[in-house]
Amino acid sequence: MKISKYFVLSILIIAVAFLSQSFQTAPQRPPKTLKNIKAFPASMTYEQVDHAMDKFKVDLGVKCNYCHAQTKESAPKLDMSSDENPKKEIARAMIRMTMEMNQKYMSTIPHADTATIQAITCNTCHRGLSKPAAEPIVAVK
Ligand code: HEC
Ligand code: HEC
Repeated sequence: MKISKYFVLSILIIAVAFLSQSFQTAPQRPPKTLKNIKAFPASMTYEQVDHAMDKFKVDLGVKCNYCHAQTKESAPKLDMSSDENPKKEIARAMIRMTMEMNQKYMSTIPHADTATIQAITCNTCHRGLSKPAAEPIVAVK
């Protein structure tokens, strides 16, 4: 039996039309919510927290699983709300410390060049390392 390529093509077109329709009518995903915020300001949105997390990753040179524990049911998927990974609590102390440095000190000291005021971030100390270098990083000449 020889199946016409036009027949195959029309089946494909119907399949694609059907699939795209079922995607359109699929229920919208519920918005992602924050369940366990203790150090960041309560006013932060999910997107803002997510953006801060991307910065942590780069500033400390780590991946999300450095601070976040795996889910019990579907490891290695991470459970971002869990506090089981002890690095997360250290990071919370670091968030509080960094915010206090900015609010209490950086905002009050006289700045030489007000056009380029730098806020203190994780990177100010960490420079891409999970544990900041104890010795000065000096360029090799
Ligand atoms: C340096 C440690 C660290 C890294 C790396 C990190 N996180 Fe987090 N994450 C935290 C801390 C600490 C909190 C809780 C902040 C608080 O309590 O205010 C948090 C909270 C979250 C939350 C909110 C959970 C909730 O339900 O409240 C999400 C989502 C999240 N992180 C995603 C990520 C993703 C995605 C990555 C990787 C891109 C990542 N994190 C990397 C430390 C980290
Ligand atoms: C003023 C400097 C400074 C800033 C700013 C800072 N850290 Fe740290 N951080 C340190 C030092 C120093 C250590 C090592 C402490 C130790 O020896 O136990 C450290 C350790 C850590 C650790 C534990 C690493 C390990 O090896 O167990 C995490 C996680 C961490 N910082 C996250 C953060 C995050 C996230 C931020 C930004 C919100 C941040 N830090 C901002 C100085 C800083």
